Amino acid sequence: MATLGTDVDTAVAHLRAGELVALPTETVYGLAGNALDTAALAQIFAVKERPRFDPLIVHVAAPEQLTGLVADPPVAAQVLMEKFWPGPLTLVLPKTDLVPDLATSGLPNVAVRVPNHPLTLAVLRALAFPLAMPSANPFGYVSPTTAAHVAQQLGGKIPYILDGGPCAVGVESTVLSFVGNTPVVLRPGGVPVEALEKVIGPIESPPTGSAVGSGSPGQLPLHYSPHTPMEFIDPCKALAGYNKARVGILSYMRRFPNHPHQFQLAPTGALREAAQRLYTGLRYLDSLGLEVILAEPVPDTGLGRAINDRLRRASAKRHKFEPNT
Ligand code: TXA
Ligand code: MG
Repeated sequence: MATLGTDVDTAVAHLRAGELVALPTETVYGLAGNALDTAALAQIFAVKERPRFDPLIVHVAAPEQLTGLVADPPVAAQVLMEKFWPGPLTLVLPKTDLVPDLATSGLPNVAVRVPNHPLTLAVLRALAFPLAMPSANPFGYVSPTTAAHVAQQLGGKIPYILDGGPCAVGVESTVLSFVGNTPVVLRPGGVPVEALEKVIGPIESPPTGSAVGSGSPGQLPLHYSPHTPMEFIDPCKALAGYNKARVGILSYMRRFPNHPHQFQLAPTGALREAAQRLYTGLRYLDSLGLEVILAEPVPDTGLGRAINDRLRRASAKRHKFEPNT
């Protein structure tokens, strides 16, 4: 079983030895390994049971450490690094040969970010290599926002979990691609698109719920998903169809009097609070073994867009695997 601790040096030692560790970030916990070492990258895919077509984000301590990893970033990307790093923003840029194809699933572009957590920044500063770091959950399941979440699911597969407390933001980073002529949001996340547009002007967003073509291969329609089936709907409209003892309600801010299983994302109505509590709420309701979780949409603005994106994907229908399709 993984040791849980707060010792940066232990995490660094494991990573230098080519092993994986879980690290805290402000968004979600990540499963970290040497981004330049194909053996470590292969372990990341294996531990997460993640398909190799879904590329990894490469994390560095500061923009200067991108030298050699990406070609000269466009000015707009540099402005965003200056303004939002360290922070929940990932930029997709053309890569150099130094970045292994395994990290980018063969794409000519690499996703990069500087995470905002003091322990993980200390780890990155101590290392002579960048870290590939997907969320530290089995592929497709709900992301972890505490060290305990990681221990529950990956504890048997990694030696060390660096415990940095609960994640302050609670949803993954916004992924913004600078590969085409105009910047495109591949995944809404911790930095609201409105905040990015204030700095660099209009940004394209793919249609709601889409897999964004081949732009971000990991953004599958069914993702971030508990084991219990989910519906993304006003709970009042759906409750009548179920035995209420078997239904969990994930509401935005209201309470449902006399309903046995419920979790309010934001008792105060603040979207920041809803984002922080999102994955804890999903995990709690999933642990009850119910027939269905009814998840209420939150206001679709700012951080709310990332929350609704995750709830929509968590509620996508499961398709039976059909060979040769
Ligand atoms: O907040 C976060 O971004 C967290 C923390 C740990 O940093 N990491 C995270 O990684 O969410 P992951 O692997 O769970 O999600 C990465 C997303 C996927 O949707 C992936 O397809 C996309 O970023 N991505 C990675 N590299 C890409 C690339 N070269 N081109 C397009 N999309 C890419
Ligand atoms: Mg993930």
